Amino acid sequence: MIVRTETIDQRIDTYLNDFQPDKIVVVVSETSEKLCLPKLQIYKKVDNIIYHLPDGDEAKKLSYCEDFWESLLRENVTRKSLIIAVGGGAVLDFAGFCASVFMRGIPCIYVPTTLLSMVDGSEGGKTGINLYGTKNIIGTFTEPAAIMRNVDFLQTLNEGEILSGWAEVIKHALLNGGTLMQMVQKGCPETNDAEAWMGIIRENILFKKEIVSEDFKEKGLRKLLNLGHTLGHGIEAIHFEDSKINHGISIANGLYWESLLGFELGITDVSILETVEKLVYPIYPKIGWSELEVEPMCNLLMHDKKNHNGKIQLSLLNAIGNASFDVEVSEAQLMDFLSKHATALHDSED
Ligand code: GLY
Repeated sequence: MIVRTETIDQRIDTYLNDFQPDKIVVVVSETSEKLCLPKLQIYKKVDNIIYHLPDGDEAKKLSYCEDFWESLLRENVTRKSLIIAVGGGAVLDFAGFCASVFMRGIPCIYVPTTLLSMVDGSEGGKTGINLYGTKNIIGTFTEPAAIMRNVDFLQTLNEGEILSGWAEVIKHALLNGGTLMQMVQKGCPETNDAEAWMGIIRENILFKKEIVSEDFKEKGLRKLLNLGHTLGHGIEAIHFEDSKINHGISIANGLYWESLLGFELGITDVSILETVEKLVYPIYPKIGWSELEVEPMCNLLMHDKKNHNGKIQLSLLNAIGNASFDVEVSEAQLMDFLSKHATALHDSED
């Protein structure tokens, strides 16, 4: 359900009237507390407990989980209590994970405040925290009690945050085709265009729900949602010190580079590659890897948890609205691809 600010409070109230929690714990990040929480009525209820997290992935640490669980114990939280997570993907992942294991599971409502978390992270029941630099390595598959998306929160985001979520919108459009593809081809709306966003977010969620309902635990079909993420995560990792290269820029580039890989493997038609280029490069900078980064990037990708039999496994597009998962690429093929395009990228960056 996607709503405007005035109705999100009503939905929360309806839920509270039905569930009658004995206690409410609101989890926020620094930014969501400043920009989003004051817009919600739950903010004004003084008996609610507010738990504060730092922004971004910094929150997704075991030490914060321990501290949070200790606070829940101190506050006598029970299975009849309710957690409400207000924030981007990191807040939802953290709160969802902590709630899913505390007392073997207490209810958690998600109020996603970023485009990325509205179209992707909030849907599908993945929760998780990071450990020793490995992302989402500790987590559960647990659906939240409810998800309340509010397009008005998009107006609190800067351009980089919108583009971060837009990359996942492009990914869903490439996988789904149809209405979503038509919407994406019209370009990224202004943040205050609530009607356009409600349509786009609705289509994204319908598509993701369809996939997740068939394969909740990512045994097969759900792997399609990893489109662009294998090379995208490689790019994100080698540029991790460059704050300008955010998740969205890496994934958008991952979508392009994986289409090129698919083309070179004879899986993806050149027209698809051109479509991806037209969707990605008018708005995202072209990012790849240098010759020096070929080997580290290859090593990184060869150690991905999704690999099988010493080969990387990725999802590649056959056509718009049609992709295959578990496409195997050997280390030699990967190395060839990375080496061949390292030089080309240097040329285009100059
Ligand atoms: N973000 C991909 C998934 O939820 O499976």
